[in-house]
Amino acid sequence: MVQTALIVGASRGIGASLARELATRGYQLGLLARNQEQLHALAAELRQQFGVRVETAALDVCAGDTVAPVLENIMQRFERTDVVIANAGVLGWRRAGDGNVAEDRRIIETNLMGAIAVIDAAVAQFKRQKGGHVVGISSIAAYRGIPGSAAYSASKAALTNYLDALRMELSGKNITVTVVHPGFVKTDIAPGMEKYPFLAEPAKVAREIADGIARKKNNIIVPRFPWSLILPAMRMMPDSIMKKIF
Ligand SMILES: NC(=O)c1ccc[n+]([C@@H]2O[C@H](COP(=O)([O-])OP(=O)(O)OC[C@H]3O[C@@H](n4cnc5c(N)ncnc54)[C@H](OP(=O)(O)O)[C@@H]3O)[C@@H](O)[C@H]2O)c1
Repeated sequence: MVQTALIVGASRGIGASLARELATRGYQLGLLARNQEQLHALAAELRQQFGVRVETAALDVCAGDTVAPVLENIMQRFERTDVVIANAGVLGWRRAGDGNVAEDRRIIETNLMGAIAVIDAAVAQFKRQKGGHVVGISSIAAYRGIPGSAAYSASKAALTNYLDALRMELSGKNITVTVVHPGFVKTDIAPGMEKYPFLAEPAKVAREIADGIARKKNNIIVPRFPWSLILPAMRMMPDSIMKKIF
């Protein structure tokens, strides 16, 4: 049977690459984001190139009570939704004490509360259909705070913990919970990404994420090498080395 995946935050970057990767694997797709022009162009490309069914919907994950109805609506267009990927996220840099707490709020609202709203709507549907797979895109910043990006690091650490708790809560309900920890990926999430170590192409990252989803892994670290070796050590790394690297 054809599998269906919803990707929230699919208009560009890792989400768009994941859409392409899943389309090559024969998935039908529901794509959501705010930018409808990018979303429609991607949907047209995937329908033409892979002959798969692609539905789209406009969604701002920060739009509170509207998130669940939009997700329910797009899920109802398919017979069944197998995978929901909460990928929408923003990255921001600021110096503590500059007074711009609003920037931190925007990051935490999007990356944490926005993801929770998506995950909650997905779990409600999965409980009704007695099964499904929730995937949250966290970050290596969940393992150790990145200097200059405290709110981002906190949002991702919280998302990782949220999904860990959910996995245990939902065990026995035929609902898989996966948390993905990408290293630095070449996207437009922030200017200057190219200066970060081990920068990966989004297509490679998408391939590894799709492999991990197929294997129903709890934790996916991408690209696996070198980050699966570095992350355990990163927790113990002296602050001075962390500061030099990041
Ligand atoms: N790039 C990296 O190095 C890296 C590393 C670790 C983790 N990640 C995580 O991977 C995910 C994707 O990042 P990316 O690098 O692909 O970034 P990106 O190229 O900037 O793409 C971000 C995606 O999220 C969507 N989005 C942002 N705010 C949204 C909102 N309020 N409502 C709905 N959709 C929203 C964007 O769509 P619209 O703007 O059209 O709404 C876009 O599709 C994020 O969660 C990010 O934190 C990225």
